[in-house]
Amino acid sequence: MTNISGNLTKFNTILAIDTSCDDTSVAVVRRNEVLANVISSQVEEHKEWGGVVPGLAKKLHEERIDGVVEMALKEAEKKLAGENLIIDAVAVTKGPGLAIALEVGIRKAQELAIDLNVPLIPVDHMEGHLFSSLIGTESSGTIGDIDRKFPALGVLVSGGHTELIKVDVVGEYKLLGETLDDAIGEAFDKVAKTLGLGYPGGPIVAKLAEKGDSSAFNFPISMKNSGDLNLSYSGLKTAVLYKVRELAGQSRVQERKNTASWEKGIKPKLEGESEAEGLVNQTIADICASFQIAAIETLMGKIRKAVQLYEFRSILLGGGVAQNILLQEKLRELAANENIELFIPGEKGLFMDNAAMIGFAGWLEQFIKVPRILKEKGEIEALDRDPGMRIAK
Ligand code: KG4
Ligand code: ZN
Repeated sequence: MTNISGNLTKFNTILAIDTSCDDTSVAVVRRNEVLANVISSQVEEHKEWGGVVPGLAKKLHEERIDGVVEMALKEAEKKLAGENLIIDAVAVTKGPGLAIALEVGIRKAQELAIDLNVPLIPVDHMEGHLFSSLIGTESSGTIGDIDRKFPALGVLVSGGHTELIKVDVVGEYKLLGETLDDAIGEAFDKVAKTLGLGYPGGPIVAKLAEKGDSSAFNFPISMKNSGDLNLSYSGLKTAVLYKVRELAGQSRVQERKNTASWEKGIKPKLEGESEAEGLVNQTIADICASFQIAAIETLMGKIRKAVQLYEFRSILLGGGVAQNILLQEKLRELAANENIELFIPGEKGLFMDNAAMIGFAGWLEQFIKVPRILKEKGEIEALDRDPGMRIAK
């Protein structure tokens, strides 16, 4: 680590760490600008177990964290091209997430803050996602610019969260609605699993949906008329499972018919083997498209309702599912009709779990009424993870 020295009086340049789940990420941000955002994904390692394994995540975070810190610092120095990199503060995800994974990042952040003699800022991972769409935008360079986006509707959609949040000012959040069971990304992942498409399923289902007919199957839109802004995805997931079982059952009936023809020695008229194969693939694509439209409509229904109930100046979209093109299109349409500014994260690294968003949220922390910034060595050492942390009630 070269060229780094502490500066206690202000913090514009922040070294940030996120180890909340299965990505080891370290970033350097300067206000709303990303100098480095290194993400070491563990997806390949967890894939063979069918999903994230906490113990494995912890082990891989421990093995990789030092290297990822080094890489982020090198990248930031390169980007500064000769200008000295001075880290003013360290930010770290305190929660929510996997307890034993969070601990690895927190320990490293404590060590770095003490070594560099700079403050440590504990950050809520969801606050990171909430403001991730403002990173790097021209209109978010100062706190004044950011204040002009409020009141904002935060739409947080990931593998673990589906939340609609009203943001009145940085640090003041109201939970308008959330999923009562599965998260939207979890529903995508479970449908992919049912269809044998692999993990994580969201991008695969979305890709196949492009080739499918979204009106082929009529899947339910849960809690459409619930009168509140809460959502549910378990009914949709189950409806897809039953439909797949039903269709697979039909294909077993077809197999029995084939067997009967074969036993009688009568060849049925076939349209060619590749066609038959195509039919199966087409059915899968149709299921993906029909599921996707129901999943997105479930969310959009509640967003439309929220926009009717409150006056929002902007919508801030964040989380892995925010990459979904259909969701982005529907939101663009809504934003244009309602004259609301829409923000979508500007690059892949800002959708997924990443430390840049933690650094940006950490930078914003200094502007709230009672900032939670740890300056004393004792306070820094006492920081503990909060796996069940909630951004808003
Ligand atoms: O935010 P994220 O990287 O991790 C957390 O859950 O915190 O989100 C990952 C989730 C997974 O469920 C994944 O399947 C979903 O985002 N996802 C998508 C798409 N790309 C990723 N879901 C729908 N459409 C996509 N294009
Ligand atoms: Zn996340």
